[in-house]
Amino acid sequence: MDFKHFVNAVDLVKKIMNYHIKKGDRVLDCTVGNGNDTLLLASLVGEKGKVYGFDIQSKALKITKEKLIKENLEYRVTLINDGHENIDNYISGKVDFIVYNLGYLPGGDKRIKTEINTTLESIKKSVGLLNNNGLLLITCYTGHDGGLVEKKGVEYFIKSLNQKKYNALRFNFINQKNNPPILFGVEKL
Ligand SMILES: C[S@@+](CC[C@H](N)C(=O)[O-])C[C@H]1O[C@@H](n2cnc3c(N)ncnc32)[C@H](O)[C@@H]1O
Repeated sequence: MDFKHFVNAVDLVKKIMNYHIKKGDRVLDCTVGNGNDTLLLASLVGEKGKVYGFDIQSKALKITKEKLIKENLEYRVTLINDGHENIDNYISGKVDFIVYNLGYLPGGDKRIKTEINTTLESIKKSVGLLNNNGLLLITCYTGHDGGLVEKKGVEYFIKSLNQKKYNALRFNFINQKNNPPILFGVEKL
């Protein structure tokens, strides 16, 4: 990775995706939202790769589908209008990369957001889906109602992972105001 300066969690996720994802990879976007991550993933996996995207809001999937069609990438992506806690109903076999961007849809209804119990249920399942050398990235926000509790739950779980099987890390600015996002990463060894 080529760093000129430190970047925030959201930009770091993009850099890691660009660095890590290879053509032909099978990847999951567990919080599609406005589709920015889904779109980048679809471009990175190439023609033989596959992206699965989950969101509980059909509005988010509609926005994302339109973006994918515009870029002629829709055939690489399966969009699933269901909660990521049900991931095991849709995904069998291992995957190379999984991303979560928690919280609410930017520009949408802030009351519709990820919640600690379903987030943890999903992340526990996700960890078990990773291929060797696969990565799981989770961006947490603590400024909204329920965000801090959710971040604490995610951190508690990630910290408990067996270090012989997983690398687990946290990345965040510690001297910034306004609750900068926090990135958790898990690498399956
Ligand atoms: C911060 S946004 C994601 C932004 C997205 N990564 C992007 O590039 O625009 C979080 C999304 O998670 C979705 N969400 C909330 N609960 C969910 C759940 N249980 N399963 C899947 N998605 C969920 C929300 O509807 C919202 O669209």
